[in-house]
Amino acid sequence: MNDAIAPHGGRLVNAISSIDGTPAGARYIEALPRVTLDERAHSDLELIACGVLSPLDGFMTEADHKSVVNDMRLSNGLVWSLPINVATDPDTANKIPKNGDVVLADAAGKTVGVMRVTDKFSFDWKEEAQKVYLTTEDKHPGVLYTMQRKPVLLGGPVQLLHARAPEFPAHSRTPEQTRGYFREKGWRKIVAFQTRNPIHRAHEYLTKCALEVCDGLLVHPLVGETKSDDIPAPVRMKCYEALLQKYYPADRVLLSTLPAAMRYAGPREAIHHALMRKNYGVTHFIVGRDHAGVGNYYGTYDAQKMFDRFKPEELGIQPLMFEHTFWHTTLKEMVSNKTSPGPKEAHLALSGTKVREMLGKGEILPEEFTRPEVSKILIEHYRGK
Ligand code: ADX
Repeated sequence: MNDAIAPHGGRLVNAISSIDGTPAGARYIEALPRVTLDERAHSDLELIACGVLSPLDGFMTEADHKSVVNDMRLSNGLVWSLPINVATDPDTANKIPKNGDVVLADAAGKTVGVMRVTDKFSFDWKEEAQKVYLTTEDKHPGVLYTMQRKPVLLGGPVQLLHARAPEFPAHSRTPEQTRGYFREKGWRKIVAFQTRNPIHRAHEYLTKCALEVCDGLLVHPLVGETKSDDIPAPVRMKCYEALLQKYYPADRVLLSTLPAAMRYAGPREAIHHALMRKNYGVTHFIVGRDHAGVGNYYGTYDAQKMFDRFKPEELGIQPLMFEHTFWHTTLKEMVSNKTSPGPKEAHLALSGTKVREMLGKGEILPEEFTRPEVSKILIEHYRGK
């Protein structure tokens, strides 16, 4: 058919169904026990349904869950770095017969999917947090989530009955659709850029270096649940649109959203981010400094080192690693320690606190740090707060 990169595990999962569309189907669904999804599980259901989490066709069974937490592999040996679960309370779990179907409902109680529950199991949150997030401190948002999760996990295949309307329809594409886009464009070497921040000059530099050696760039911001002090997705989307319009070649860049929840799992999440992009049809993936990190939980290059644990063919997608990059005040260009002569004083550095303080006062950030078009959108955001 074509020589595009194969999805992880070989096949793009499609778990979209309309079984409730007939009166008999609707009656069957109506009578099932109901499990309420939190935001993370709801977004995972949607990602599973359109193949972003291929080869997963449902929430993890105990065997897969344990194997992923302990060895970063599914029980069949395929690389997989993060648990993908739905949790419920013991009362609800007791109402579900083994191999029985349940309705998956969103936070408002609306039916969104069905699941065949092949497995019910408990978990040790401390052990899981330590292995997945490398800490048990509840200051870590991923640890807090694991700690507060309901105590019974349900495993088994899912079907999505009602997809949410995409938050950014103009930039919403499933793996099938990005693959189609790349095929149409004739791009073979495609690099994806994961981000949960506005694109600053360092990000711009990485993406442009990568584009120099690839046919196309997928700017692929994560727009699902993020922690409350991250810049909200609608504000970031405005920044991406403004930046791409003026500073990138329109025919070589695709802006599309990833509606996944952020885990802040650093090294393990870097692998997860790469595998999702492989399913979108991407061949190369940018991994820079402290990818998917939070606080000081991970070393600057730990996420990059994680890729060494696997054989390249086990991952399929190729990481493009970048050193910490910054503006060099005497060379007047973006560099890293790999490409600059020093000295350290010539590095333009702005802390997150300083950036927020300047934007809060309505000050445009130095152009060498952030393009003025992006600064202006961020100032508006801080003014509205
Ligand atoms: S992340 O949680 O999505 O990783 P962010 O949006 O800040 O956060 O980073 C997106 C990508 O750019 C990641 O691969 C990260 O490692 C990389 N990155 C961010 N800032 C820099 C920088 N100054 N130098 C090198 N890489 C960077």
